[in-house]
Amino acid sequence: MGGLAGRLAVVTGAGSGIGAVAAAHFAAEGASVVVADLNVDAAEAVADGIRAGGGIAVAVGFDLGDVDSIAVLMESAVRAFGGIDVLLNNAAATHLAGERDVPIALADHDLWNESFRVNVTGTMSCIKAAVPYMAPRGGGSIVNVASGAGLAGDIGHPAYGASKAAIIRMTTYAAIEFGPKQIRCNAIAPGLIVTPATEDTWAAGPMRDIMVRQHLTRRLGTPSDIASAAAFLASDESSFITGQVLCVDGGLLSHMPYVADLMDLMAGN
Ligand SMILES: NC(=O)c1ccc[n+]([C@@H]2O[C@H](COP(=O)([O-])OP(=O)(O)OC[C@H]3O[C@@H](n4cnc5c(N)ncnc54)[C@H](O)[C@@H]3O)[C@@H](O)[C@H]2O)c1
Repeated sequence: MGGLAGRLAVVTGAGSGIGAVAAAHFAAEGASVVVADLNVDAAEAVADGIRAGGGIAVAVGFDLGDVDSIAVLMESAVRAFGGIDVLLNNAAATHLAGERDVPIALADHDLWNESFRVNVTGTMSCIKAAVPYMAPRGGGSIVNVASGAGLAGDIGHPAYGASKAAIIRMTTYAAIEFGPKQIRCNAIAPGLIVTPATEDTWAAGPMRDIMVRQHLTRRLGTPSDIASAAAFLASDESSFITGQVLCVDGGLLSHMPYVADLMDLMAGN
């Protein structure tokens, strides 16, 4: 048991990658976890794994792009465990941040609308639907998984980056609105994390080497790196932290853009 003992948590996008590891981490810290994902089979497998390890979890299928299914998700969480204390808004339409998310001059309007409908409106809708169940429990913690791409420009995926920037600003609005109810809202901006969404692209081949050079830790992130930070923000250990963006990125966004090149020059490479 740990810092989330007795907490009732909903983790979205928990069928894969960061969400799956975060759900298991929350359960290992004592939370009862709703493993929520579009991919019900994947969510069931993660929940089964948690239960096999002695944790408490149920799987719920839902679609972040469908406000009715978000309402059903939160109702299911309350039916299963009696309330909601923690919401990890981790789900995103990561599949849209690929080849179709082209430079703005060529922008695909349908892709932009879909990215914002799912990532931004979906995240907002999860907050809106969860807060009424958090407030009667005396408060809660909402953690939004944003991205470094929401804080700095990148090559490629402008719609994804803009949607993540919107989630970062939404985080502050939620912190303001729900602070008086003792509901905190923070965001995490991950660096490059090796997951099914990145393992064959950004974290593969020559791209991997370029990315590793830009992380001051000289390694890419793991889902556990994000899960630990999320557990901290979900717990009372962070009870005076709200409206913040925590970069969990091995220093990716903490340095001047030329640092990696200068370090190589100074090392004689
Ligand atoms: N991996 C990285 O390097 C990285 C970096 C920055 C931010 N992020 C963010 O972290 C989060 C998790 O990313 P990941 O790398 O683990 O991705 P992933 O693709 O491995 O997992 C995403 C999960 O979300 C689910 N999902 C997709 N659309 C959904 C929908 N409409 N409704 C419900 N669930 C849906 C998928 O089924 C999947 O299980 C995302 O918000 C992503 O933008 C990831």
